[in-house]
Amino acid sequence: MKHSENQERQVNMKFVTLVSMVAALGGLLFGFDTAVVSGAIGFMKERFDLNEVEVGWAVSSLIIGCIVGAAGAGVLGDKFGRKKVLIMAAVLFMIGTIGSAIPDTFSGYIIARIIGGIGIGITSTLCPLYNAEIAPAKYRGRLVALNQLATVTGIFLVYFVNLWISGYGDAAWGVSTAWRWMFGVGIVPGLLFLVLLFFVPESPRWLIKQGRAAESLPILLKIHGEELAKQEVLDIKESFKQESGSIRQLFSPALRLALIVGVGLAVFQQVTGINAIMYYAPEIFKETGAGTNASLIQTILVGLINFLFTILAIWLIDKVGRKALLLVGSASMTVCLVVIGAAFHSGQPSGPLVLIFILLYVASFAVSLGPVVWVIMSEIFPNRIRGKATAIASMSLWTADYVVSQTFPPMLGSAGPSVTFMIFGFLSLLTFFFTWRMVPETKGKSLEEIESLWSSRKHESRQVNPKINEIDQSSRVI
Ligand code: BGC
Repeated sequence: MKHSENQERQVNMKFVTLVSMVAALGGLLFGFDTAVVSGAIGFMKERFDLNEVEVGWAVSSLIIGCIVGAAGAGVLGDKFGRKKVLIMAAVLFMIGTIGSAIPDTFSGYIIARIIGGIGIGITSTLCPLYNAEIAPAKYRGRLVALNQLATVTGIFLVYFVNLWISGYGDAAWGVSTAWRWMFGVGIVPGLLFLVLLFFVPESPRWLIKQGRAAESLPILLKIHGEELAKQEVLDIKESFKQESGSIRQLFSPALRLALIVGVGLAVFQQVTGINAIMYYAPEIFKETGAGTNASLIQTILVGLINFLFTILAIWLIDKVGRKALLLVGSASMTVCLVVIGAAFHSGQPSGPLVLIFILLYVASFAVSLGPVVWVIMSEIFPNRIRGKATAIASMSLWTADYVVSQTFPPMLGSAGPSVTFMIFGFLSLLTFFFTWRMVPETKGKSLEEIESLWSSRKHESRQVNPKINEIDQSSRVI
């Protein structure tokens, strides 16, 4: 009996892991597509004779698509099912990939990037959601973090591929052809994602919501085994009875704080400059005097550090807690950014110094804001409005990403790297204080406990309005 129970558990985990890996491939496309432009941008600048604003546009056009995709993902996913919409996203991604590799005009490239971006916006929202819906509750947290690991793997791989491609020919070949291959290579993970999606089941939660419980049972049987599966159907049905939440509820006194924390962290994750490094790293390293190849190698180091420290975060997040990671990470990011800003201020930045502090900054981000913000976004909202609320936070994140990637090149040109990095440093400091004052520790708490935390804060604030500071005090130790 024991033996077969164990076996069953193993089979279940195999199935869940396999299905989650397919969904995580969406995270890989997210990382790949957002970072691929870092290696291509230098060549494209020459090929299309781009000014600073156009360079910003070349990078951030994808993000416009992502905002649109994230906005539509919730509604489409609810109407047509997660699986169908993810398949659609994979097709959009492939159209975007091929379209960015072949155009002879800058506007042709921009249109393709926006189309691909819609695909990425959809996968970045629906993949974690699909993972959460298919996973047994106790593995949900880990699976959200798995998505972030897939994202940084995509970023890391793309740096490597970019270096490999640019080493294939001379500078002229780079300008005419290399950047096309950099984008075009995305077809491999895109195709893999598309094909594998046909083999994963639809989300059982979505099926039940559609009144198709009979179809969900075989999937739940595979995940949970016979006894638990039937119970799970009942539980899911029960939870939907309570899920009548509308967007208006989010602005109620009880949930306003949750919304401020979710959206605030989403915005801080971006305005502290991570994607200025992720998307423009080779260009930054060139500013310190490094050649094209050296700067691409340094960029690979950035990807490696990002990857390794994300693994460290996954290991630490349930031990030391989300808040501690955010505090230490944002403090350390502040110091690194100020040092980088000061190095550029001197007029002759030392290459190794800038490299070391950029790596330290990336490590600090990877162990804190990178994974922790996505985890908090997925657990901080009550069950009944989690989907809509997470979508609002996710759109805020992409919008902040857009603003940073669009303004970074002109800012580098006009204000210079020193001021630019100092501004990111100041915003990291704000992140530290925001976390300290506003973010509750959610480690080890059930989702229901987190939910009741917001209502108790509302209750207290209604009772004794002048004592709001005391409530803040108590929130600091939650
Ligand atoms: C962020 C991305 C970023 C990546 C870097 C993610 O958590 O949302 O914008 O590019 O981390 O690792």
